[in-house]
Amino acid sequence: MSEVNWKPVKSSSTPLYLQIVNYIRNKIMSGEWTIGTKLPSQRQLAACFEVNRSTVITALQELIAEGLLEAKTGSSTFVANNTWNVLATSSPNWPEYVQAGIHQPNRSLIQQINKAEAEPATLRLGTGELGSELIPTDEMKQMLISKQHQSLSLGYEEPKGNAQLRETLSRYLRKKGIQASPSSILIVSGGLQALQLIAWGLLRKGSVILHEAPSYLNSLSMFESVGIRGVGIPLDRHGLQMESLVRLKRQHDAALLYTIPSFHNPTGAVMSEERRKQLTEIAHRETLPLIEDDVYGDLWFEDAPPPPLKADDRGGNVLYLGSVSKALSPGLRIGWLVGPEQVIDRLADIKMQTDYGSSSLSQAVVNQWIQSGKYDDHLSQLRVSLLKRRNLTLDILRHCLSDCCTWNIPAGGFYIWLRLQKRFSARKLFQLALQKGILLNPGSVYDKMDDSHIRLSYAYPSESELVQGLQRLAQLIKEDFCQ
Ligand SMILES: Cc1ncc(COP(=O)(O)O)c(C=O)c1O
Repeated sequence: MSEVNWKPVKSSSTPLYLQIVNYIRNKIMSGEWTIGTKLPSQRQLAACFEVNRSTVITALQELIAEGLLEAKTGSSTFVANNTWNVLATSSPNWPEYVQAGIHQPNRSLIQQINKAEAEPATLRLGTGELGSELIPTDEMKQMLISKQHQSLSLGYEEPKGNAQLRETLSRYLRKKGIQASPSSILIVSGGLQALQLIAWGLLRKGSVILHEAPSYLNSLSMFESVGIRGVGIPLDRHGLQMESLVRLKRQHDAALLYTIPSFHNPTGAVMSEERRKQLTEIAHRETLPLIEDDVYGDLWFEDAPPPPLKADDRGGNVLYLGSVSKALSPGLRIGWLVGPEQVIDRLADIKMQTDYGSSSLSQAVVNQWIQSGKYDDHLSQLRVSLLKRRNLTLDILRHCLSDCCTWNIPAGGFYIWLRLQKRFSARKLFQLALQKGILLNPGSVYDKMDDSHIRLSYAYPSESELVQGLQRLAQLIKEDFCQ
């Protein structure tokens, strides 16, 4: 069980322990907590319910006496029974089903981050998302009530997605040098779904997918869940290192390479034009298809990054992935995948089996933003705001942390890859900061072996939160690590 979002009413005439007994009993009787469910520890329950531990112990003892709970080794408590089960001869063993599911759970660190992100009081210094001030909510509302949507169709869409949106994207991509006709574009529910479809639809169990080390891909378990192994390739500030790429491709007979050439997550690196050319050459020579993840590509500050790999794609070697999540709104859940028609048809067919298409309302809205030119106007403003936040972050880092950390200066995107010097543990810093209400993304999210980096994002916190959060973080690093 991941969370308990209920608290007893302190002003009630019913004793607190009895309210807790009733709450847990209801959860068990209603089947929400099934037999075998492990309850949080007494300490965690006391914190969730905001009561003393002795109150929790009294409540649990009563439920144990009723036979609904049982205490096992240590202080773990499990659901042991329910009245329905007493009458029936058997009930499903949900814990066993949950264990048996094919899809792997998130790593516990990522579950901890997801949970902390849902706490309104958390100061989120690592979140890879635009803060609410940067999402154009008012314009979005205006657009939804404007006459432009009078012909809105809210039925299911075609397998590849809304035809108008694919036309619009075909024109938008041409400005980046990418030739993609609407039939080679698949609308997906965010870039994440494109990766899921690739994992399901294009790769054999046991395949190897190469990626930058560190990489966003390491924060996902979708490839591992279908038996695909990731192998990391070292990265420097110009992007992937080509010598290691060729060696590792041959060594593992890799099926694909996943890369984020522009404003890489988590390092912020931009692959140079020269490296892009080399990569395209090598990919051709070694028959290595590429997934180019360009979800940050529009978020440059002063100069646009070099053209996407897809712009130089001669033989249909590149599957190109874009999304409005990082530049407009992640909640719309709209992205796109561009590739050879045979691949797009195959993945569109799987998508139909999975969700029968992305939200038609979201597709209409994204079409409107891009087609009307409002998306470009918004991007111009967003670049200015992000640059301001980046500069603010760099000023604070220079002022407070230059004696014990180093970092990159991103030319776009969201991220600063902070390197802790002198063997400080990023994992420890993550836990320590979380106890103080500050959420960081430790490097191990992106490379399991990494314990010396923190991914900072200046996109999510407001300017005042950035100042406050970074100063508190600097203090924490100095007090606990820099002595
Ligand atoms: C590199 C990269 N690709 C894809 C995604 C997924 O984005 P979406 O919201 O479009 O699914 C993210 C989100 O963090 C990302 O950083």
